[in-house]
Amino acid sequence: AAPLRDVVKGQDTFIGAALETRHLQDKQFAETLAREFNQLTPENEMKWSYLQPERGKFTFDKADKLVDFAQKNNMMVRGHALVWHIQNPDWLDNGDFSKEEMLKIMEEHITAVVSHYKGKVKYWDVVNEALDDNGGWRPTIWYKALGEDYIAKAFEFAHKADPDAILVYNDYSTEGKTPKANAAYRLVKKLKEQGVPIHGIGTQAHLVVGVQPRVADIAANIERIQELGLEFHFTEIDIRMQDPATDRMLQQQANMYEDLAKLTAYYDEVNFFTTWGISDKYSWIPHWFKGYDHGLMFDKQYKEKPAYTAVNKVFADK
Ligand code: G3I
Repeated sequence: AAPLRDVVKGQDTFIGAALETRHLQDKQFAETLAREFNQLTPENEMKWSYLQPERGKFTFDKADKLVDFAQKNNMMVRGHALVWHIQNPDWLDNGDFSKEEMLKIMEEHITAVVSHYKGKVKYWDVVNEALDDNGGWRPTIWYKALGEDYIAKAFEFAHKADPDAILVYNDYSTEGKTPKANAAYRLVKKLKEQGVPIHGIGTQAHLVVGVQPRVADIAANIERIQELGLEFHFTEIDIRMQDPATDRMLQQQANMYEDLAKLTAYYDEVNFFTTWGISDKYSWIPHWFKGYDHGLMFDKQYKEKPAYTAVNKVFADK
């Protein structure tokens, strides 16, 4: 089969993958990334602890390497993530800042980062995971200091720094018909109605083989987002299974990947099909979910799995 990025040529679809700079030292990784993908997302190195380890001290060198690789290989970069509650530096997590101070700190960070990547990073996950698993407000340092308004502020700061950037709210378990998906819909609808510069919603799609959101529910989600005039992105796809992988599980995984690819191919507003890594060799999954693995389209030897073949066929047949 032709590489994925060639198969989607002219379809206005980003086929992406997440990575760390260290992964580029693996020749097979770098080759597969450049051959198959037209978009990349820094898995960790654009998070606060990497970009602003000390207050006022910005270190862009690692993330710049990813942006350089993308530019050399004609790939789009998705920035991840301007505001989140994990991987923040100690000075931020443990600082006892006033509401005004926290707002200033947020504005400084977003302005510095978005300005630094203006013209190089077109898409930003502006706020990541503001909702808890029941669809309520996650009690993060941002929420506790600023209330729900921190979300609108983050988008406004990003837009001011780069009016051309496409700004997205990103979360997980928001694919199908869940209380959290409804809360995410209400959130972006309200932001839109307030005139906040938001352009899309990202759903991470960290899924589990055999526990699939109904395709009709995902489609319904996409359509109500479409009605708001927003884009709908699959931002962090991986579909984990229990170790050891069996042919049956790999085929079930391929079917689930195929469904997401079909939704991407069918709806114009769905223009990101990004997997959270390339090869199972470097996936976060086994470190975070004991006994689970094999979530990506390439195995640990970079061999194409049934999921890759299924996804490639969907886009080739479009
Ligand atoms: O870089 C340090 C290393 O110096 C240290 O020796 C090592 C041991 O403590 O930790 C390393 O940092 C780890 C980092 O990944 C880089 O590998 C952190 O401990 C570890 O917590 C961090 O995990 C990342 C996780 O986000 C938490 O930030 C995962 O790689 C990354 O895949 C995951 O990605 C998130 C998205 O950003 C948001 N959506 C969910 C997704 C999965 O959790």
